[in-house]
Amino acid sequence: MSAVFNFTFVPWFRSVAPYIHKFRNQTFVVAICGEAIAAGKLAHLAQDLAMIQSMGVKVVLVHGFRPQVNEQLKAKGHAAKYSHGIRITDEVALDCAQEAAGQLRYEIEAAFSQGLPNTPMAGSTVRVISGNFITARPVGIVDGVDFQHSGLVRKVDVAGISRTLDFGAMVLISPFGFSPTGEAFNLTMEEVATSVSIALQADKLIFVTEVPGIRIKPDEPASDDNPIDTELPLAAAEKLLAQVPAGQRPSDTAFYLQHCVKACKAGVERSHIIPFSVDGALLLEIYVHDGIGTMVVDEKLEELREATEDDVGGILQLIEPFEKDGTLVKRSRTEIERDAANYTIVEHDGVIFACAALYPYPEAKTAEMAALTVSPQSQGQGDGEKILKRIEQRARAAGLQSIFVLTTRTMHWFIKRGFVPVDPDWLPEARKRKYNWDRKSQVLVKKLG
Ligand SMILES: CC(C)(COP(=O)(O)OP(=O)(O)OC[C@H]1O[C@@H](n2cnc3c(N)ncnc32)[C@H](O)[C@@H]1OP(=O)(O)O)[C@@H](O)C(=O)NCCC(=O)NCCS
Repeated sequence: MSAVFNFTFVPWFRSVAPYIHKFRNQTFVVAICGEAIAAGKLAHLAQDLAMIQSMGVKVVLVHGFRPQVNEQLKAKGHAAKYSHGIRITDEVALDCAQEAAGQLRYEIEAAFSQGLPNTPMAGSTVRVISGNFITARPVGIVDGVDFQHSGLVRKVDVAGISRTLDFGAMVLISPFGFSPTGEAFNLTMEEVATSVSIALQADKLIFVTEVPGIRIKPDEPASDDNPIDTELPLAAAEKLLAQVPAGQRPSDTAFYLQHCVKACKAGVERSHIIPFSVDGALLLEIYVHDGIGTMVVDEKLEELREATEDDVGGILQLIEPFEKDGTLVKRSRTEIERDAANYTIVEHDGVIFACAALYPYPEAKTAEMAALTVSPQSQGQGDGEKILKRIEQRARAAGLQSIFVLTTRTMHWFIKRGFVPVDPDWLPEARKRKYNWDRKSQVLVKKLG
């Protein structure tokens, strides 16, 4: 074993531990598009899901089957028809959908039954249970288009799914539903997954898709300056949705986003869009801090806001202990009063639990994040992170390209969140003049997308 191995493996494994503890007994609805299976990704997805389940997560798996149904239709010489982004399911398409769903269920069950020695599935026992958990109703006739056997979710059998999950099984749902008269309806994977996550009040809804996520500038091509937006607050996601055209094809920004927003608004705190093209995308999204795709998160907006003069007393009370022990540089009441609008705070029931200030240096297209503080009793619950994200958004909205911090004790917290150490010489001239060379603060910079 290489001598370096211990120094990489052990810290890496430990860094995952908080997520393992956090997600135990949580419910994740994972929706896998049919394209992922057609692209041969099923075996690896099954391995990762088996591992996630073995770490105590209750998994509901919903599969799509768009390309598989189209393939069957092609074999029968029948054209695939769509309208409003939904398949028009005639008799032939219904037959094809049933065949495709049957075939995929077998393939998925087989993938979870692997257990060869020396593979990630060795020793895993995943019981996959599928069933008639969805009641459907017809889409009907919309704008003169008869959708025939295409349906919408009418009811989700929450008790049935929950009992199956409690029994330790993974629930597998195909995009099919049945009416009380026993008629079968072809549903969309996206709607089924969203409805199931809402009905179960799942902790996460994850779409494993053909798109990499939502970019910072969604309508512009991928580039270093246009990376994936890893976290979209619900309000920002709703705003974006209102600006883009309706999602008809998976590559449209609104296609998956509309479902993420719907789920989030209905109580599913986090919903994700991640690419199947990246091996291990599920593990990267769930167990690595920044993730890989886009997460829409319902942060309680009333708690996170910009400060006013009325908040100065609360901010002083929060930062004082950290000024006394030397973690933060001393700031006077007058200084905070003058700069109140630069502060972002987390407030709960009238008490300020966290704050940070943003001081722009527009000439250098950067800004300092200063006085980042979370009260000792609420540290470790993500408030620091929440404030950082908001400060990043404020800086981005001001057209800045980076933010920087000066710190003597909290370097690692920032490095874990994408900051890199630089020489104090890097600082904008105006800030360099105020740099306290005795304090020897480390300067860290984060480039904004
Ligand atoms: C640093 C600070 C703002 C983080 O706030 P928070 O709400 O606890 O942060 P989060 O909940 O988002 O993150 C918690 C994680 O940060 C880690 N962390 C906390 N303080 C840290 C430090 N000084 N160095 C490295 N990591 C730290 C926790 O161990 C936890 O790790 P995990 O994600 O692996 O579980 C908060 O600890 C604080 O107010 N510290 C005192 C003031 C300070 O140092 N401010 C920075 C001045 S430049």
